[in-house]
Amino acid sequence: MIVRCATTNPGKLREFRLIFEAYGGGGIDLRPLEGLAAIAAPEETGATFAANAALKACYYSAFTEDLLFADDSGLEVEALRGAPGVYSARYAGPAATDAENNAKVLAALAGSQERAARFVCSIALARGGKLLGTFTDAVEGWMTEEARGSFGFGYDPLFYYEPFGGTFGETAPERKLLVSHRGKALARLIREL
Ligand code: IMP
Repeated sequence: MIVRCATTNPGKLREFRLIFEAYGGGGIDLRPLEGLAAIAAPEETGATFAANAALKACYYSAFTEDLLFADDSGLEVEALRGAPGVYSARYAGPAATDAENNAKVLAALAGSQERAARFVCSIALARGGKLLGTFTDAVEGWMTEEARGSFGFGYDPLFYYEPFGGTFGETAPERKLLVSHRGKALARLIREL
């Protein structure tokens, strides 16, 4: 069975592939949506990760006959009342780099002892513009005071995961996906498929 995924983020695509391998998505042929870069992206106007994932899955699935999934994910920091949340990718501005987003979240938390945070991921499955299901999961951790490690992407170097005794930036991808928001949400999708 061919399943398309709608992401232009190479960090995410790498993780999706690893997750499919790890969770026995063996019979599933995971491929990116052909021509994705040439398709105008829809505006992510949803107030939740699930709403944005659904909006993207419905939109992009109209460009293929195959099943397609899209994800939306981000970081929720308790002391920042859930920010950056659905704005995680553009927290420091529309074209913000990971380093700029990380600097902004560290500045917002400067001096704060309250450092609980979670990564959340919603994955929506659609075909021909119709939503078939949404799968959401999360991983709990703590915001560090400085970046540590060079694995992963985004806020990984700032996200301390207690059971591993280090940040996701210090965690090999194969290990991260077994506990991560994206790994667990995708595992739910794979079970459904
Ligand atoms: P999306 O592409 O709209 O889902 O935005 C996701 C953004 O949230 C990314 O650009 C990262 O900044 C952040 N994010 C989501 N998942 C992760 C993760 O696993 N590690 C680090 N940052 C993440």
